[in-house]
Amino acid sequence: MAEKGMIIAIDGPAGSGKSTVAALLARRYNYINIETGAMYRALAWKALETGVPLDDEAALADLAGKSRIELQAHPNGNRVLLDGNDVTERIRRQDVTEAASKVSVHPKVRAWMVQNQRELGAAGGIVMEGRDIGTHVFPQADIKIFLDADPEVRGARRFLQNPTTHLKETAAADLRERDHRDRTRANSPLVPAPDAVIIDSTHMTLDQVMDNIVEVIEARRNAAQK
Ligand code: C5P
Repeated sequence: MAEKGMIIAIDGPAGSGKSTVAALLARRYNYINIETGAMYRALAWKALETGVPLDDEAALADLAGKSRIELQAHPNGNRVLLDGNDVTERIRRQDVTEAASKVSVHPKVRAWMVQNQRELGAAGGIVMEGRDIGTHVFPQADIKIFLDADPEVRGARRFLQNPTTHLKETAAADLRERDHRDRTRANSPLVPAPDAVIIDSTHMTLDQVMDNIVEVIEARRNAAQK
């Protein structure tokens, strides 16, 4: 297994620290880091740009089918390419964040995303982060981590990441709304996989979270080599 490279799934709500942890793990193991949220964001941005209504599932699925979303590894984070254009910064805008949450409820959109994500990860040697990786995209993933934290802590982390565009209260309220949508949607809601290791980072430092996850990964690797 070590030769082929594992599939490491990191799921959890917004602000739980998934992206930071996934990037660090990818660097540590020399794996490819696939942020699935960026793919939903890229489609949402295109929908906003082209005027496709966010509640029109058929039109969104059609738009997805005509799109090419690529994640390119860079020393300071992935670049996101949509139809060959770099949209990395644009897709972090607040209106795109909201739109991504809305487009992601549609089963046909999810089906397109999941198919692409499976192709991207099929060869192994990946850290894939999102909401449904351990439950749906790669239920056979070698490692499944579900990262969580109290909503107030997650809201505060989000605010610190982007203080210029957010009021602290707005950040917390946006996050609660997105969380609710993710957890209650009919198709692939945000839930830990039954075999996921759940880590609540509310009172933990980043180093402590990383140590925990690395321990899980090393135990799995050692078991596989026996
Ligand atoms: O992780 P990020 O905040 O960038 O994701 C943007 C949105 O995409 C989330 O609010 C969530 O609704 C959706 N998403 C999803 N499934 C994933 C990744 C993201 O539904 N695997």
